[in-house]
Amino acid sequence: MSVTIEIDGRQLTVPEGMNLLEAALQNGIYIPHLCHHPDLPDLGSCRLCIVEVEGMEGVQPSCKLKATEGMKVTTDSPRIHDLRKLAMELLLAAHPEDCSTCPKYGRCELQTLIQYMGVSATRMSTRIKGFAQNSKNPLLIHDMNRCVLCGRCVRACGDLRGVGVLQYNKKELETYVGTLHDKLLTDADCRFCGACAEVCPTGTIRDLVEFTPVEKKDTLIPCQATCPAHTDVPRY
Ligand code: FES
Repeated sequence: MSVTIEIDGRQLTVPEGMNLLEAALQNGIYIPHLCHHPDLPDLGSCRLCIVEVEGMEGVQPSCKLKATEGMKVTTDSPRIHDLRKLAMELLLAAHPEDCSTCPKYGRCELQTLIQYMGVSATRMSTRIKGFAQNSKNPLLIHDMNRCVLCGRCVRACGDLRGVGVLQYNKKELETYVGTLHDKLLTDADCRFCGACAEVCPTGTIRDLVEFTPVEKKDTLIPCQATCPAHTDVPRY
């Protein structure tokens, strides 16, 4: 069943119960968001996607709302702008300011959001988390200093892949993503599917293969008879 909702004065017809953030995005209305990923259940933790909904008090994370008939939504206002900026500053309070040397530079969703929102500094007192980069695992690098605890990797590992190797751990006052008893991924039954690295919006969990420069080859490799898509006509 479809419902008609209004976002920023635009009438939209969307499936009833559709995630409001997705409804906006799919209709070309951009709402900043970080912890949301279309393939994962929503957590509503980053608070960047907040909107105002007529009849509801305060602001609401749009990723946690469902579209209902007659809903009237505002995605930007001075109040939303200020609270969104504050949410971003909280994320940045414990994030290193070394984007230019980060391996994810230019492909980091957090960096894109910082630029989109024009947040150049945080008013919070800043701290470096002080985790050592974990390069002991095959294929994946974990750099928890860059983590903003969006939880996408934990949900990808548990809810999406059904493996559940990743969890939230504590080291003194800092929360980080790791395995039970900080086991190596190889000892923690990780399947190395790479979903965690794929959904990570920052340079925190990185796929080693992705960051290894691929040598360009002049010659193409012909397809093999063992390939399911092989035909007798040579294809390259
Ligand atoms: Fe909605 Fe993070 S995207 S709270």
